[in-house]
Amino acid sequence: MNGLRVWLVGFGTVGRWVAGALRAQAAQLETRYGAGVTVIGIGNARDGFVYHPDGLDLGSVLAAAAGGRPITGQPGTRAWPTAIDGLRATEADLLVEVTDSPPGAGEPGLTHMREALRRGIPVVTSNKWPVALHGLELAELARLRGVAFRAESTVMSGTPVLSTLTEGLAGAVPVGLRGLLNATANAILSQMADGTSYEDALAAAQRAGLAERDPAADVAGDDTVAKLMILSALVFGRQLRRDQVACQGITGITGRQARDAAAAGGRLRHVAALAFEGPGGAGTVTARVRPEALPAGDPLASVDGAANALVLQASPVGQIMISGPGAGPQLAGQGVLADIIAVASWQVRKPLSRARSPALDQVLAAGRRLVRLWPEVRHLGDQAAVELEEGHRVAGRAIEEPVEPSHRVPLVGDRELRPQVPVAGVLLVEPQVAVTSPDTLP
Ligand SMILES: NC(=O)c1ccc[n+]([C@@H]2O[C@H](COP(=O)([O-])OP(=O)(O)OC[C@H]3O[C@@H](n4cnc5c(N)ncnc54)[C@H](OP(=O)(O)O)[C@@H]3O)[C@@H](O)[C@H]2O)c1
Repeated sequence: MNGLRVWLVGFGTVGRWVAGALRAQAAQLETRYGAGVTVIGIGNARDGFVYHPDGLDLGSVLAAAAGGRPITGQPGTRAWPTAIDGLRATEADLLVEVTDSPPGAGEPGLTHMREALRRGIPVVTSNKWPVALHGLELAELARLRGVAFRAESTVMSGTPVLSTLTEGLAGAVPVGLRGLLNATANAILSQMADGTSYEDALAAAQRAGLAERDPAADVAGDDTVAKLMILSALVFGRQLRRDQVACQGITGITGRQARDAAAAGGRLRHVAALAFEGPGGAGTVTARVRPEALPAGDPLASVDGAANALVLQASPVGQIMISGPGAGPQLAGQGVLADIIAVASWQVRKPLSRARSPALDQVLAAGRRLVRLWPEVRHLGDQAAVELEEGHRVAGRAIEEPVEPSHRVPLVGDRELRPQVPVAGVLLVEPQVAVTSPDTLP
């Protein structure tokens, strides 16, 4: 086994699409991106969590899920009754979190993501509400741990909007944005431009497989509210509460209103808007989702059908518009896949720090014990990590905190190490690094 070891939590439409894509593209990921990916754990609500340290047979797990059989009945695997139990008992290099987590508390996704990030394990997710409600916290946790937190497909699915705004436009100061963030609502309003009633347009969207049988989240605006909150947190660095986003859905729109907007040369659209008093998310916020009659010259007016679009104002760039398809599991899956590849490629390329670490000096000077861990070990502790220097022939991070005697430190192979108390310095070693440190093994 080599490459990135992945936990995949959530094995519904998106999770299965991602598993299928990772299986089908395994060779290409290795040759094109130099990024091998091995799924070692899969979780769902019904069966719990199945795990194989050398990688699960994805074809077999997919076949079990498709046949309605438990995913946990795979030969040679271990299983836990819930996904969080499995995460707590095992190690991985990446959590792919694609459960469905309703608006209330964003659970179970939030707990899964916190568990991974607190242990310095990067997270990729398509799960909107945990990011909408706690995106800033999760991004900050990831930053403190020096790992990735990516949520591309939470906004505009497979159309790369978050990476474009945060990485492509890195250094630019975002000022405000407007967007059409729900493809179902846009498809309905597009159809209504000729006077079709809301009910008939909704029925057509359902027949086309766009709208769910219960389309409430799309047409009432909740889905768009979540996406606006995610943009605020991850692009502007400003966490919003749900009640800070004024929301009016499209359910009350009549065919006549849509036709009148079209007759005036424009279009009625369900517009999400985010503006701040100051640049970079500073000052008073105006966040709203509502139907608006847009004039013909508005770039959002020409976005028709099951599409998404976003117009960002940034300094010194000016106006950037991104548009693309915004519905369907393969698009959500594609956004997740792109994020996985970004993490995998980054792990492969990640340079080792050569900077001298005062933290390591302190640990050594105080005669504290360093516990040597093997390369695959990737977690311990809750304190901020610091890079170590290579002079000690150790590359990784030190976490300066006492380790509980009960804190189990899994090692490669079948051994398990229980650090002796008190242990104040623990080396957390990156994968792929051969460790020949001068430390003392207990
Ligand atoms: N589908 C799309 O087009 C799309 C687009 C963008 C974003 N998203 C987001 O992506 C996420 C996944 O969407 P989806 O369409 O794949 O949803 P889905 O088909 O309903 O699948 C959700 C999965 O999460 C699992 N799950 C629920 N609670 C769990 C728990 N406590 N522990 C472990 N697993 C749990 C479910 O288990 P069971 O199988 O046992 O029920 C199921 O496998 C959602 O947050 C959704 O909003 C979806």
